[in-house]
Amino acid sequence: MRDLSLVIVGHVDHGKSTVIGKLLADTDSLPQGKLEQIKELCQRNAKPFEYAFLLDALKDERAQGITIDIARCFFKTQTRNYIILDAPGHVEFLKNMVSGASRAEAALLVIDAAEGIQENSKRHAYLISVLGIRQIVVLINKMDLVNYDSKVFENIKKEYQEFLKDIQVVPQAFLPVSAFQGDNIAFPSVNMPWYQGSTVLQTLDQLEAEAALENMPFRMPVQDIYKFTEENDDRRIIAGTIETGTLKQGDKVIFYPSGKTSTIRTIEDLTQKDITEIHAGYAAGVTLTEQLFIKRGELAVVDGQKKPHVASRLQANLFWLGKQPLIADKVYKMKLGTAQVEARLEKIIDILDTADLHKVSKSRVDCKDVATCIFSLKHPVAFDLNENMPITGRFVLVDQYEIAGGGIITKALSDEHTWVREQILEREYKWEKSKISYLERARRYNQKAVCIFISGKNEIDKKVVAKALERELFEEGKYVYYMGMRNLLYGMDADIKRRETGLDRNVEHLRRMAETANIFLDAGLILIMSASEVSRDEFHLLSEIIGEEKLLKVFIGDETERLDDIDVFLEQQETLQQCIGTIKQVLKRRRFIFDI
Ligand code: GTP
Ligand code: MG
Repeated sequence: MRDLSLVIVGHVDHGKSTVIGKLLADTDSLPQGKLEQIKELCQRNAKPFEYAFLLDALKDERAQGITIDIARCFFKTQTRNYIILDAPGHVEFLKNMVSGASRAEAALLVIDAAEGIQENSKRHAYLISVLGIRQIVVLINKMDLVNYDSKVFENIKKEYQEFLKDIQVVPQAFLPVSAFQGDNIAFPSVNMPWYQGSTVLQTLDQLEAEAALENMPFRMPVQDIYKFTEENDDRRIIAGTIETGTLKQGDKVIFYPSGKTSTIRTIEDLTQKDITEIHAGYAAGVTLTEQLFIKRGELAVVDGQKKPHVASRLQANLFWLGKQPLIADKVYKMKLGTAQVEARLEKIIDILDTADLHKVSKSRVDCKDVATCIFSLKHPVAFDLNENMPITGRFVLVDQYEIAGGGIITKALSDEHTWVREQILEREYKWEKSKISYLERARRYNQKAVCIFISGKNEIDKKVVAKALERELFEEGKYVYYMGMRNLLYGMDADIKRRETGLDRNVEHLRRMAETANIFLDAGLILIMSASEVSRDEFHLLSEIIGEEKLLKVFIGDETERLDDIDVFLEQQETLQQCIGTIKQVLKRRRFIFDI
């Protein structure tokens, strides 16, 4: 039996808590005697009974560590277990939803029959759809207040359907109910003979549950990588929660955005070791047949299944709840699964006022606005489009440590490095792997492969530093090679017409340089390269091709020209010996070389 998580939304006082209370009561999900106890208490205080009191009482017990969670209640039917998320107020609950506290798979939207459609009836529906929740059931509640009149029901249904059509939402069903009286909640109503459809419970049981998730393509965002503690055991456990799909022992997996591939050796979950198969919804730890250097935030995918997108620009539908407006020229943190990346608002395509869904034109996104935007990210990440894969197609935006918005990804957009990135993925996929592992080589050579890239101002002779460093490491017994730019330009790159472009390095030069470096690194060598005034973009490209963990970026010059993510900064007046000394210190600190 799988769980299904629901969120309940709607305008203030339209009866959300009452629907939940009644569902709990009618499915015998309440602690023994609880309902009677609260009813009695109300009577003694001459207060009318409210289901909201019941939920509050359960919440208090939870505070004492006994039963239920305020936002989350549980009930079950013969078909499955339900987790239902109450949504008090408006803005607050949305924050919970986007922060991932809820992975609601369906929503119940409550409308008061007497009051009709109100502002939040619309806004919530829109936000639900923006969150990518596509199963929506509309309850037209408090039918007792309108004499169970079918006309009232039909009118609201018609009006609301038209609105939903505008925002491309097709609800699963419209149900006339009275939560308080219990009409059509768990039992068919005797008061509305004109309605022959299902009750709320029957409708819920017909929704698609997580079972469908396990049939989707496999996705596991990498949460953590643990090393085995034993000496000489270089295995690593890759841990994460499986969002969709199924993983089997022996499956070939690809990690994105790096494109690294390996095969699943073992799988374990929280309770058992060595299981052969694991499904969506479970936390897992896996070991691989070949060790890879991957990082938290990568997305594990099974080879042959639908590939995710890898991009550093994306288009999204987003809603904004931040106190400060969303603006260009500010850096936000975007969280996609376990990945976190700096994001900038590149362009606003349009903004909707969610109260009346009018398009407004302005250059910033204010609190409660819904907008279609383009974001550019500091480095590429792996994700899906929400229409195919809702869970791995959503994100949250953080503004100064606070969740300020969330949304769904509608398009992956290209940037100037897209074609290079596609080639890297292809290369990783096709790479002929040696039987000798990275660590075996590291042990034999007593060094870890690294590319030391020395950049700096034009007039500084970086080659002198590079060659002296090569000599010193060589004398110490390291396997090291200095590769000059010219060695490539006049050899491997001779086919690129340098004179025509007037450039010593265009993207293709750089790409070939990095691919060549990649081969040296795979062989286990320490490679030294140098070039003038390498830009941030060029360093990015190098690190995408070589792998960030294997690139040491050195810059010689003055403080003002320094790029912000340089690994080693050397003042231009430092002596040759000082320069070499500093680089070696960093190599030791990062454990590329060690004293023995
Ligand atoms: P907020 O959490 O404040 O947004 O409200 P809510 O949507 O949770 O509404 P709640 O369930 O607290 O109900 C609001 C009021 O409507 C309460 O007084 C309920 O007793 C009443 N109510 C809810 N459902 C019905 C119904 O089916 N019929 C009648 N007559 N009253 C109802
Ligand atoms: Mg409530």
